[in-house]
Amino acid sequence: MVSLKTDVGSISLENPGMIASGIMDETGKSLVRVLRSGAGAAVTKSIGLEPKPGHDNPCFMEVRGGYVNAMGLPNPGIELFREEMEEAVKEGKIIGSIYGAGPEDFSKLAARMEDYGACAVELNLSCPHAKGYGMEVGTDPAMVKAIVSAVKSSVSIPVWAKLTPNTHILTQIGLAVQEAGGDAVVAINTLKAMVISPEFARPIMSNKFCGLSGEAVKPVGVRAIYDLATVLDIPLVGVGGISNWRDAAEYIMAGASAFQVGSAVGTEGLCVFKNINEGLSAFMEEYGYGSIRSMVGAAHE
Ligand SMILES: Cc1cc2nc3c(=O)[nH]c(=O)nc-3n(C[C@H](O)[C@H](O)[C@H](O)COP(=O)(O)O)c2cc1C
Repeated sequence: MVSLKTDVGSISLENPGMIASGIMDETGKSLVRVLRSGAGAAVTKSIGLEPKPGHDNPCFMEVRGGYVNAMGLPNPGIELFREEMEEAVKEGKIIGSIYGAGPEDFSKLAARMEDYGACAVELNLSCPHAKGYGMEVGTDPAMVKAIVSAVKSSVSIPVWAKLTPNTHILTQIGLAVQEAGGDAVVAINTLKAMVISPEFARPIMSNKFCGLSGEAVKPVGVRAIYDLATVLDIPLVGVGGISNWRDAAEYIMAGASAFQVGSAVGTEGLCVFKNINEGLSAFMEEYGYGSIRSMVGAAHE
């Protein structure tokens, strides 16, 4: 029997799949549903210090090969999120995703997530469509280092940094996370994108710019994990376009110890986790991989 158990640093998971931030993870009930559907853990929607309504419609649409969104980080704020966390952490491992404008915001939010029972925090250093947040702070290695250091000194749970592919210095940013004591790197967030309506001669999204996710971004994500694995010693979590066991296996072989699924929940439903687990087990059995660990980074050898 093969084992799907894996570790992301000190966090042990029954299986390597998690829900990605922003997908069915804004309420306690939806987080519980995700955990019951076969995910090894669930990441919350990114939460900030204050409630935020997000961008106006249109802010989401399907495109060939995936979706684009410019949600603008809508969330109830950390205070109101307490109740959702209390419900979710009883069911399983919850990683609290947070966003902020700098080290102070991130430290305060991380401390609250720890109080609420999160087993780790994931720093959103990568959203491509929220002014002053996300990739605007996450593409400067000095700022990334300052944020991760500050959060490390304010919590005792592991600190994961979620990075953007919208940069040519991804590995430098990964190194900044590692040097600051970060416990894991998560990659990738969406690719900065735009869709234009020829009829209206205008960008369709109210925010003009948006982020591309889904099948189309998978090769970019796999490359990002492969590149990061060549320079980093801390664990990696792969995300971007995973909808079946083959996609998950690619990320693991590129160097990820675990993975997250976002857009495919829209196309496959929540059974995506169970299907990936079954497919991975059958593949591992047939190809002689006894554990996820023995497959991590196999494509580098
Ligand atoms: C509607 C939507 C909302 C998202 N919200 C967040 C968010 O709040 N925080 C974050 O770090 N990533 C967010 N993401 C990015 C996803 O977590 C993920 O990194 C990205 O979609 C790539 O994975 P996928 O191709 O499996 O969807 C969002 C993605 C979508 C489609």
